[in-house]
Amino acid sequence: MQNESKQATPVLQVKDLSVCFKTVNGLVTAVNQVSFDVAQGETVALVGESGSGKSVTSLGVMRLTPPAPRAQLSGEVWFRGREDTQPVNLLSLSEKEMRSRRGKDIAMVFQEPMTSFNPLHTIGKQIAEGVRIHHGISKAAALDRAAELLDMVGISAPRERLKNYPHEMSGGMRQRAMIAMALANDPCLLIADEPTTALDVTIQAQITELLQELQQKTKMALLFITHNLGVVAEIADRVMVMYCGQIVEQANVEALFAQPGMPYTQGLLKSVPKLSLGEGHQSDLPAIPGSVPSPLALPSGCHFGPRCAHIDADVCQQVNPVLAEVSAQHWVRCNRWKNVAESLQHA
Ligand SMILES: Nc1ncnc2c1ncn2[C@@H]1O[C@H](COP(=O)(O)OP(=O)(O)O)[C@@H](O)[C@H]1O
Ligand SMILES: [Mg+2]
Repeated sequence: MQNESKQATPVLQVKDLSVCFKTVNGLVTAVNQVSFDVAQGETVALVGESGSGKSVTSLGVMRLTPPAPRAQLSGEVWFRGREDTQPVNLLSLSEKEMRSRRGKDIAMVFQEPMTSFNPLHTIGKQIAEGVRIHHGISKAAALDRAAELLDMVGISAPRERLKNYPHEMSGGMRQRAMIAMALANDPCLLIADEPTTALDVTIQAQITELLQELQQKTKMALLFITHNLGVVAEIADRVMVMYCGQIVEQANVEALFAQPGMPYTQGLLKSVPKLSLGEGHQSDLPAIPGSVPSPLALPSGCHFGPRCAHIDADVCQQVNPVLAEVSAQHWVRCNRWKNVAESLQHA
């Protein structure tokens, strides 16, 4: 899936994005200095266990976190839409400017479309409104466009379906309709946050395929969030692994699966069912022991240390490692990545 054109100027370039929440129990840093970019036509996957900061990262990019002082956003989010001659820092736009980009230049698909659609209005009305807000066309023309979009995402009898209320659709069809709504204004960046998690496996595969097809047609940049590495293998060009609000590994998809450098990534890979990855991965190994620590009580040093088979207490409990480039375009946040790589070779 890698090709030269994907090295073009990034559509999205995130630099040192942090998101802190003020809670009754103290300050929570849900996203801690995250940097990455996504180019036109590229799919970048963001993976990690529940609670690692994936959704908050995407909400930060979209500026959909609660207003200050409840949440504090810092860093830079450079975005270049089709009409921009220069990238703009989304974090420095006014709320009004930001609103005009959401749902147009940048669109988002969530896990549960039941909560994204208003249950009181038909699907057709909601998609058509999304089109009208940004284009000022007639109601009839917007409905035509909505039908076209439903057809594009593989919903049959789209004219009839426009009249459906969200609860009248199956989960899979609702998710297709949600994707149709997201694509209504031909965004150059789509953020899909666990878009298939609530669906059964067959429908999951269909939705993933649909997203890939649509992306090939429209050349949009796709940030795909999932906790499922099996899906990542199918869809992504590059992968970022997140843990406790930090990116702990970043590589192209082949390198990540062939040579996962961070013990956390290795653990995630071991817990993926063998079928979805092909030979060479075992499904009967335990998932990573323990659980994601509370962001209010992060372990000192390397946050993954207490769950890591490779821990060297002297080093790992003292030093929160930096992301080291272990080979070209492959970064790993581990104090002991050299030892870990050696032990893999001898395994
Ligand atoms: N509004 C909020 N207030 C306080 N903490 C939050 C809020 N939203 C998310 N968090 C915390 O941020 C961390 C990351 O959450 P999230 O990004 O939703 O994880 P993921 O999407 O990877 O499952 C979690 O510890 C979560 O409890
Ligand atoms: Mg999430």
